[in-house]
Amino acid sequence: MKNTILLAGATGDLGGKICLALIKRGAHVRLLIREGSNHDRVHNLSQAGAEVITVNYGDEAALISACDNVSCVVSALAGLYDVIVTAQTLLLNAALKAGVKRFIPSDFCTDFTQLQKGDNRNFDLRKEFQEILDSAEIHATSIFNGAFTYVLQNNIPLLDTKERSIAYFQDKLDWKIDFTTVTNTAEYTAAVALDDSSPRFLNIASFRVSPHELAELTRKVFGAKFELKERGPINYFADYIRKIRQEQADGEKQLYPQWQQMQYLHSMFTAHHKEINNDRYDISNWTSAEQTLKDLFQKDKI
Ligand SMILES: NC(=O)c1ccc[n+]([C@@H]2O[C@H](COP(=O)([O-])OP(=O)(O)OC[C@H]3O[C@@H](n4cnc5c(N)ncnc54)[C@H](OP(=O)(O)O)[C@@H]3O)[C@@H](O)[C@H]2O)c1
Repeated sequence: MKNTILLAGATGDLGGKICLALIKRGAHVRLLIREGSNHDRVHNLSQAGAEVITVNYGDEAALISACDNVSCVVSALAGLYDVIVTAQTLLLNAALKAGVKRFIPSDFCTDFTQLQKGDNRNFDLRKEFQEILDSAEIHATSIFNGAFTYVLQNNIPLLDTKERSIAYFQDKLDWKIDFTTVTNTAEYTAAVALDDSSPRFLNIASFRVSPHELAELTRKVFGAKFELKERGPINYFADYIRKIRQEQADGEKQLYPQWQQMQYLHSMFTAHHKEINNDRYDISNWTSAEQTLKDLFQKDKI
Protein backbone atom coordinates (compact mmCIF):
# COMPACT_ATOMS: atom_id res chain seq x y z
CA MET A 1 0.00 0.00 0.00
CA LYS A 2 1.24 3.51 -0.83
CA ASN A 3 2.31 5.79 2.03
CA THR A 4 -0.07 8.73 2.45
CA ILE A 5 1.71 12.02 3.20
CA LEU A 6 -0.29 15.04 4.33
CA LEU A 7 1.34 18.20 2.97
CA ALA A 8 0.51 21.69 4.28
CA GLY A 9 1.73 24.72 2.31
CA ALA A 10 1.72 23.02 -1.10
CA THR A 11 0.67 26.22 -2.88
CA GLY A 12 4.00 27.72 -1.81
CA ASP A 13 7.34 27.67 -3.59
CA LEU A 14 8.90 24.86 -1.54
CA GLY A 15 5.64 23.02 -0.84
CA GLY A 16 4.72 22.66 -4.53
CA LYS A 17 8.12 21.12 -5.26
CA ILE A 18 7.85 18.75 -2.27
CA CYS A 19 4.48 17.59 -3.61
CA LEU A 20 5.92 16.73 -7.04
CA ALA A 21 8.98 15.05 -5.51
CA LEU A 22 6.73 12.89 -3.29
CA ILE A 23 4.59 11.83 -6.26
CA LYS A 24 7.80 10.96 -8.15
CA ARG A 25 8.79 8.72 -5.23
CA GLY A 26 5.48 6.89 -5.45
CA ALA A 27 3.73 8.42 -2.42
CA HIS A 28 0.06 9.26 -2.20
CA VAL A 29 0.04 13.00 -1.44
CA ARG A 30 -2.86 14.68 0.31
CA LEU A 31 -2.73 18.47 0.15
CA LEU A 32 -4.15 20.62 2.91
CA ILE A 33 -5.45 23.70 1.13
CA ARG A 34 -7.24 26.77 2.43
CA GLU A 35 -10.35 28.35 0.94
CA GLY A 36 -8.84 31.06 -1.29
CA SER A 37 -5.49 29.31 -1.92
CA ASN A 38 -4.08 29.88 -5.40
CA HIS A 39 -6.49 27.95 -7.64
CA ASP A 40 -4.10 27.39 -10.58
CA ARG A 41 -1.40 25.93 -8.35
CA VAL A 42 -3.88 23.61 -6.65
CA HIS A 43 -5.24 22.55 -10.06
CA ASN A 44 -1.73 21.77 -11.40
CA LEU A 45 -0.83 19.68 -8.34
CA SER A 46 -4.15 17.86 -8.53
CA GLN A 47 -3.50 17.13 -12.24
CA ALA A 48 -0.10 15.72 -11.20
CA GLY A 49 -1.91 13.22 -8.97
CA ALA A 50 -2.33 14.85 -5.55
CA GLU A 51 -5.53 14.54 -3.52
CA VAL A 52 -6.82 17.94 -2.41
CA ILE A 53 -8.59 18.68 0.86
CA THR A 54 -9.79 22.21 1.63
CA VAL A 55 -9.92 23.03 5.34
CA ASN A 56 -10.22 25.86 7.78
CA TYR A 57 -7.42 25.33 10.32
CA GLY A 58 -9.90 26.30 13.06
CA ASP A 59 -12.03 23.23 12.25
CA GLU A 60 -10.44 20.53 14.40
CA ALA A 61 -12.68 17.71 13.21
CA ALA A 62 -11.84 18.48 9.56
CA LEU A 63 -8.10 18.58 10.34
CA ILE A 64 -8.28 15.23 12.18
CA SER A 65 -10.19 13.71 9.28
CA ALA A 66 -7.54 15.03 6.83
CA CYS A 67 -4.91 13.18 8.92
CA ASP A 68 -6.73 9.85 8.61
CA ASN A 69 -4.39 7.03 7.56
CA VAL A 70 -1.46 9.44 7.13
CA SER A 71 2.08 8.18 7.82
CA CYS A 72 3.75 11.60 7.95
CA VAL A 73 2.65 15.24 8.07
CA VAL A 74 4.93 17.62 6.19
CA SER A 75 4.57 21.34 6.82
CA ALA A 76 5.96 23.85 4.31
CA LEU A 77 3.95 26.75 5.74
CA ALA A 78 5.49 30.23 5.81
CA GLY A 79 4.50 33.05 8.11
CA LEU A 80 4.78 34.61 11.55
CA TYR A 81 3.44 33.47 14.96
CA ASP A 82 -0.09 32.72 13.67
CA VAL A 83 1.39 30.27 11.18
CA ILE A 84 4.61 28.83 12.59
CA VAL A 85 3.30 28.45 16.16
CA THR A 86 -0.52 28.57 15.99
CA ALA A 87 -1.35 26.82 12.68
CA GLN A 88 1.43 24.24 13.05
CA THR A 89 0.24 23.45 16.62
CA LEU A 90 -3.32 22.93 15.36
CA LEU A 91 -1.93 20.62 12.69
CA LEU A 92 0.23 18.76 15.20
CA ASN A 93 -2.68 18.26 17.63
CA ALA A 94 -4.88 16.91 14.83
CA ALA A 95 -2.08 14.57 13.73
CA LEU A 96 -1.72 13.28 17.31
CA LYS A 97 -5.47 12.69 17.64
CA ALA A 98 -5.52 10.82 14.31
CA GLY A 99 -2.59 8.62 15.38
CA VAL A 100 -0.07 9.98 12.83
CA LYS A 101 3.42 8.78 13.73
CA ARG A 102 5.67 11.38 12.07
CA PHE A 103 5.88 15.18 11.60
CA ILE A 104 8.26 17.37 9.58
CA PRO A 105 7.93 21.03 10.68
CA SER A 106 8.45 23.98 8.37
CA ASP A 107 12.00 24.75 9.53
CA PHE A 108 14.02 24.67 6.28
CA CYS A 109 16.64 27.15 7.46
CA THR A 110 19.96 27.60 9.22
CA ASP A 111 20.44 25.33 12.27
CA PHE A 112 18.72 27.59 14.80
CA THR A 113 19.61 25.25 17.68
CA GLN A 114 23.08 26.86 17.49
CA LEU A 115 21.59 30.36 17.88
CA GLN A 116 20.46 32.30 20.94
CA LYS A 117 16.91 33.52 21.43
CA GLY A 118 16.76 37.09 20.07
CA ASP A 119 19.36 36.48 17.33
CA ASN A 120 16.70 35.92 14.68
CA ARG A 121 12.97 36.66 15.15
CA ASN A 122 11.79 34.13 12.52
CA PHE A 123 13.97 31.39 14.02
CA ASP A 124 12.67 32.19 17.53
CA LEU A 125 9.20 31.22 16.26
CA ARG A 126 10.63 27.88 15.10
CA LYS A 127 12.32 27.39 18.48
CA GLU A 128 8.96 27.98 20.16
CA PHE A 129 7.25 25.40 17.95
CA GLN A 130 10.19 23.02 18.47
CA GLU A 131 9.44 22.97 22.22
CA ILE A 132 5.80 22.10 21.53
CA LEU A 133 6.78 19.42 19.00
CA ASP A 134 9.39 17.85 21.26
CA SER A 135 6.92 17.54 24.12
CA ALA A 136 4.50 15.58 21.86
CA GLU A 137 4.46 11.80 21.34
CA ILE A 138 5.42 11.97 17.68
CA HIS A 139 8.57 11.19 15.68
CA ALA A 140 9.77 14.58 14.38
CA THR A 141 12.49 15.44 11.86
CA SER A 142 13.69 18.98 11.08
CA ILE A 143 15.60 19.71 7.91
CA PHE A 144 18.28 22.39 8.07
CA ASN A 145 19.27 23.57 4.60
CA GLY A 146 21.07 26.82 5.42
CA ALA A 147 19.91 29.58 3.08
CA PHE A 148 18.04 29.00 -0.16
CA THR A 149 20.43 29.76 -3.01
CA TYR A 150 18.11 32.36 -4.55
CA VAL A 151 18.80 34.78 -1.66
CA LEU A 152 22.15 35.40 -3.37
CA GLN A 153 20.12 37.18 -6.05
CA ASN A 154 18.78 39.77 -3.61
CA ASN A 155 21.89 41.98 -3.51
CA ILE A 156 22.54 41.01 0.09
CA PRO A 157 25.89 42.41 1.30
CA LEU A 158 27.42 38.91 1.08
CA LEU A 159 27.11 39.16 -2.72
CA ASP A 160 26.32 42.67 -3.87
CA THR A 161 26.28 42.64 -7.66
CA LYS A 162 25.59 46.40 -7.87
CA GLU A 163 28.59 47.32 -5.74
CA ARG A 164 30.48 44.27 -7.06
CA SER A 165 31.52 43.47 -3.52
CA ILE A 166 31.48 40.64 -1.02
CA ALA A 167 30.98 41.45 2.66
CA TYR A 168 32.32 39.39 5.54
CA PHE A 169 32.77 39.89 9.27
CA GLN A 170 36.01 40.04 11.23
CA ASP A 171 37.80 36.66 11.31
CA LYS A 172 35.09 35.18 9.03
CA LEU A 173 36.81 35.35 5.63
CA ASP A 174 36.98 31.54 5.51
CA TRP A 175 33.71 30.86 7.35
CA LYS A 176 31.66 28.32 5.36
CA ILE A 177 28.06 29.29 4.66
CA ASP A 178 25.50 26.60 3.79
CA PHE A 179 23.29 27.07 0.73
CA THR A 180 20.70 24.73 -0.79
CA THR A 181 18.47 25.09 -3.83
CA VAL A 182 14.73 24.88 -3.26
CA THR A 183 14.65 21.87 -5.61
CA ASN A 184 17.33 19.95 -3.70
CA THR A 185 15.54 20.77 -0.41
CA ALA A 186 12.23 19.52 -1.80
CA GLU A 187 13.71 16.28 -3.15
CA TYR A 188 15.44 15.60 0.16
CA THR A 189 12.30 16.39 2.18
CA ALA A 190 10.30 13.91 0.10
CA ALA A 191 12.87 11.21 0.86
CA VAL A 192 12.77 12.07 4.60
CA ALA A 193 8.95 11.93 4.62
CA LEU A 194 9.12 8.33 3.38
CA ASP A 195 11.89 7.28 5.79
CA ASP A 196 10.43 6.03 9.08
CA SER A 197 13.87 5.97 10.72
CA SER A 198 14.91 9.57 10.03
CA PRO A 199 16.71 11.26 12.97
CA ARG A 200 15.49 14.40 14.77
CA PHE A 201 17.72 16.73 12.71
CA LEU A 202 19.17 16.44 9.22
CA ASN A 203 21.61 18.93 7.69
CA ILE A 204 21.91 19.45 3.96
CA ALA A 205 23.68 21.86 1.63
CA SER A 206 23.84 21.96 -2.15
CA PHE A 207 27.18 23.65 -1.49
CA ARG A 208 29.14 25.38 1.26
CA VAL A 209 31.08 28.48 0.38
CA SER A 210 33.19 31.04 2.27
CA PRO A 211 33.39 34.76 1.35
CA HIS A 212 36.95 34.08 0.19
CA GLU A 213 35.81 31.26 -2.14
CA LEU A 214 32.82 33.31 -3.31
CA ALA A 215 35.19 36.10 -4.38
CA GLU A 216 37.23 33.62 -6.44
CA LEU A 217 34.02 32.39 -8.08
CA THR A 218 32.97 35.91 -9.07
CA ARG A 219 36.14 36.07 -11.16
CA LYS A 220 34.92 33.03 -13.13
CA VAL A 221 31.26 33.94 -13.36
CA PHE A 222 31.33 37.76 -13.66
CA GLY A 223 34.69 38.10 -15.43
CA ALA A 224 36.36 40.08 -12.61
CA LYS A 225 36.82 39.46 -8.92
CA PHE A 226 34.44 41.35 -6.61
CA GLU A 227 36.00 43.43 -3.84
CA LEU A 228 36.10 41.76 -0.41
CA LYS A 229 34.91 44.18 2.29
CA GLU A 230 35.35 43.52 6.00
CA ARG A 231 32.35 44.74 8.03
CA GLY A 232 33.90 44.64 11.53
CA PRO A 233 33.03 42.25 14.36
CA ILE A 234 29.80 40.24 14.08
CA ASN A 235 28.67 41.36 17.56
CA TYR A 236 28.72 45.02 16.42
CA PHE A 237 26.44 43.96 13.56
CA ALA A 238 24.09 42.30 16.09
CA ASP A 239 23.96 45.56 18.11
CA TYR A 240 23.19 47.52 14.93
CA ILE A 241 20.34 45.12 14.00
CA ARG A 242 18.81 45.49 17.50
CA LYS A 243 18.85 49.27 17.08
CA ILE A 244 17.21 49.16 13.62
CA ARG A 245 14.62 46.67 14.92
CA GLN A 246 13.63 49.07 17.72
CA GLU A 247 13.37 51.96 15.26
CA GLN A 248 11.27 49.97 12.77
CA ALA A 249 8.53 48.56 15.01
CA ASP A 250 6.21 48.03 12.03
CA GLY A 251 8.53 45.27 10.88
CA GLU A 252 7.24 43.09 13.74
CA LYS A 253 4.11 42.54 11.63
CA GLN A 254 6.04 41.75 8.44
CA LEU A 255 7.65 38.43 7.52
CA TYR A 256 10.79 39.86 5.94
CA PRO A 257 11.39 43.45 7.17
CA GLN A 258 14.82 44.97 6.54
CA TRP A 259 16.13 44.03 10.02
CA GLN A 260 14.93 40.44 9.59
CA GLN A 261 17.00 40.16 6.43
CA MET A 262 19.98 41.47 8.41
CA GLN A 263 19.25 38.82 11.05
CA TYR A 264 19.43 36.15 8.34
CA LEU A 265 22.86 37.45 7.30
CA HIS A 266 23.95 37.45 10.95
CA SER A 267 22.71 33.84 11.30
CA MET A 268 24.63 32.76 8.19
CA PHE A 269 27.84 33.96 9.84
CA THR A 270 26.98 32.58 13.30
CA ALA A 271 25.71 29.02 12.71
CA HIS A 272 26.72 26.47 10.11
CA HIS A 273 26.63 22.71 9.67
CA LYS A 274 29.04 20.60 11.68
CA GLU A 275 28.15 17.56 9.58
CA ILE A 276 26.25 17.09 6.34
CA ASN A 277 23.67 14.37 5.71
CA ASN A 278 23.36 14.80 1.93
CA ASP A 279 24.27 11.15 1.30
CA ARG A 280 21.50 9.62 3.38
CA TYR A 281 19.24 9.25 0.31
CA ASP A 282 19.65 8.60 -3.42
CA ILE A 283 19.94 12.27 -4.39
CA SER A 284 22.92 13.06 -6.58
CA ASN A 285 22.06 16.31 -8.38
CA TRP A 286 23.31 18.71 -5.68
CA THR A 287 23.86 22.03 -7.45
CA SER A 288 27.39 23.49 -7.15
CA ALA A 289 28.18 27.08 -6.15
CA GLU A 290 29.53 27.86 -9.62
CA GLN A 291 26.46 26.44 -11.35
CA THR A 292 24.18 28.35 -8.98
CA LEU A 293 25.86 31.68 -9.75
CA LYS A 294 25.67 30.93 -13.47
CA ASP A 295 21.99 29.97 -13.21
CA LEU A 296 21.15 33.07 -11.16
CA PHE A 297 23.17 35.68 -13.01
CA GLN A 298 24.45 34.76 -16.43
CA LYS A 299 21.08 35.40 -18.04
CA ASP A 300 21.22 38.99 -16.70
CA LYS A 301 23.53 41.75 -17.82
CA ILE A 302 25.47 42.74 -14.71
N1 LIG B 1 16.34 29.01 4.15
C1 LIG B 1 15.91 30.01 3.41
O1 LIG B 1 16.70 30.81 2.85
C2 LIG B 1 14.43 30.19 3.16
C3 LIG B 1 13.98 31.17 2.27
C4 LIG B 1 12.59 31.27 2.06
C5 LIG B 1 11.71 30.43 2.75
N2 LIG B 1 12.22 29.52 3.63
C6 LIG B 1 11.32 28.64 4.40
O2 LIG B 1 10.76 27.62 3.56
C7 LIG B 1 9.44 27.29 4.02
C8 LIG B 1 8.45 27.48 2.85
O3 LIG B 1 8.55 28.82 2.41
P1 LIG B 1 8.05 29.27 0.95
O4 LIG B 1 8.89 30.43 0.54
O5 LIG B 1 7.90 28.09 0.06
O6 LIG B 1 6.60 29.84 1.33
P2 LIG B 1 5.51 30.51 0.38
O7 LIG B 1 5.84 30.31 -1.06
O8 LIG B 1 5.27 31.91 0.88
O9 LIG B 1 4.23 29.60 0.72
C9 LIG B 1 3.65 29.67 2.00
C10 LIG B 1 2.60 28.59 2.16
O10 LIG B 1 2.07 28.73 3.49
C11 LIG B 1 0.65 28.77 3.41
N3 LIG B 1 0.13 29.62 4.47
C12 LIG B 1 0.47 30.90 4.74
N4 LIG B 1 -0.23 31.35 5.80
C13 LIG B 1 -1.00 30.33 6.21
C14 LIG B 1 -1.94 30.16 7.27
N5 LIG B 1 -2.23 31.15 8.13
N6 LIG B 1 -2.56 28.98 7.41
C15 LIG B 1 -2.29 27.98 6.56
N7 LIG B 1 -1.43 28.07 5.52
C16 LIG B 1 -0.79 29.23 5.37
C17 LIG B 1 0.32 29.33 2.04
O11 LIG B 1 -0.95 28.87 1.73
P3 LIG B 1 -2.03 29.71 0.87
O12 LIG B 1 -1.69 29.46 -0.55
O13 LIG B 1 -3.34 29.14 1.29
O14 LIG B 1 -1.85 31.16 1.28
C18 LIG B 1 1.42 28.73 1.19
O15 LIG B 1 1.06 27.44 0.76
C19 LIG B 1 9.17 28.21 5.22
O16 LIG B 1 9.57 27.56 6.40
C20 LIG B 1 10.11 29.38 4.96
O17 LIG B 1 10.45 30.11 6.11
C21 LIG B 1 13.55 29.37 3.83
